[in-house]
Amino acid sequence: MFRMGKEEVEAVGRVIATKELFRVNNGLKEAEKFEEEWAKTIGTDYAILMSSGTGALIAALVGMGIGPGDEVIVPGYTFMASASAVLAVGAIPVLAEIDETMTVDPADIEKKISKYTKAIVPVHICGYPCNMDAICEIAKKHNLYIIEDACQADGGRYKGTRLGSIGDVGAFSFNYFKLISAGEGGALVTNNKLAYDRAMIYHDGGAAFRPYASDFEVPVFMGTQMRTNDITGAIMRVQLTRMDGIIADLKKIKKTMTEAFANNGKFVVAPSHDIEGDLGTHLPLRFADAETARKFADDKELGGYLVVDSGKHIYYNWSPVMEHRGAHCDVLNPYNLPQNQGLNMTYTKDMLPNTLDLINRTYHLTLHCDWTQEEIQQKIDAILKRCSEI
Ligand SMILES: Cc1ncc(COP(=O)(O)O)c(C=O)c1O
Repeated sequence: MFRMGKEEVEAVGRVIATKELFRVNNGLKEAEKFEEEWAKTIGTDYAILMSSGTGALIAALVGMGIGPGDEVIVPGYTFMASASAVLAVGAIPVLAEIDETMTVDPADIEKKISKYTKAIVPVHICGYPCNMDAICEIAKKHNLYIIEDACQADGGRYKGTRLGSIGDVGAFSFNYFKLISAGEGGALVTNNKLAYDRAMIYHDGGAAFRPYASDFEVPVFMGTQMRTNDITGAIMRVQLTRMDGIIADLKKIKKTMTEAFANNGKFVVAPSHDIEGDLGTHLPLRFADAETARKFADDKELGGYLVVDSGKHIYYNWSPVMEHRGAHCDVLNPYNLPQNQGLNMTYTKDMLPNTLDLINRTYHLTLHCDWTQEEIQQKIDAILKRCSEI
């Protein structure tokens, strides 16, 4: 999905020429500059570039002080990392339904809240913005934190505000499959200094020895290693300059295709909580029934997939969650921790009927920012032809 060219090669070359690839105490400070630029772009006070989106989610939960004894609400349709991050801090993921837009259903969030609930993880899956107004209202009413999983939504918006900046902390991924990428990478954003300090400490196990340790307002605790390097920083600085152009091109393609598919008689384009803020990476085709959707998807040349087939994104395929294997040893397994006994940890394959219905009737067409007019028209023709065959 991302675009990459000689600018990234030159930026990496400049870092290598300094032989200072470590991000701390070096000359070019590419990672640090990216953090400043990312925070400014997203609209937050702080940003941390790190090794992955999963790392950013875990550091976000650490930042908000979430741990054993806490339930965190996560949608049943997302990449498993949204739930595994919760387990990584010793808390329990509670699964919620999605709505017609494929993002977490606020009505079901309310149903899943218990006295143990500490946070909600709205996931802007496929760049579709969640219903943040409703989610913020619920969070306020029940005194819950919001950790936005914007790992599939780099640069997206909700009602004009960048995704990731609406909740308490936001997490992004820059892995190979994302809109902007350094192969691997992630970032955390927040306006909360305490969350930032804790995330900085957690993401860099050597934080106590860094120059930035003097700015921490909390004592340094033991962290891990999710630190990144200046090569990733240099690539991401160039990638950032490409981001809004990619989104603009994708949105044009999505609009053209949406218009072309009006009244096709077989599917509708699924609704959005804010089509203006949508990333445009996917077009969700919603069929009336699972059987027709399956027939459509049987043509493997169309360039998309039936959502139910997206394995690791469907809750019942998250075997470590479903089978309560939340850690490498029994005593550290959050499902066994005494603090977590009595929490909501029952998962069954049929526990989210609305989600099952939607994933069986929704086909995701993946869009490419560099498609030519001719390629777009070929796609439209192929899809309409398929509609006439089923
Ligand atoms: C919704 C979601 N959350 C979290 C992640 C984890 O990101 P990473 O692969 O950078 O760890 C991904 C990655 O694909 C994702 O799609």
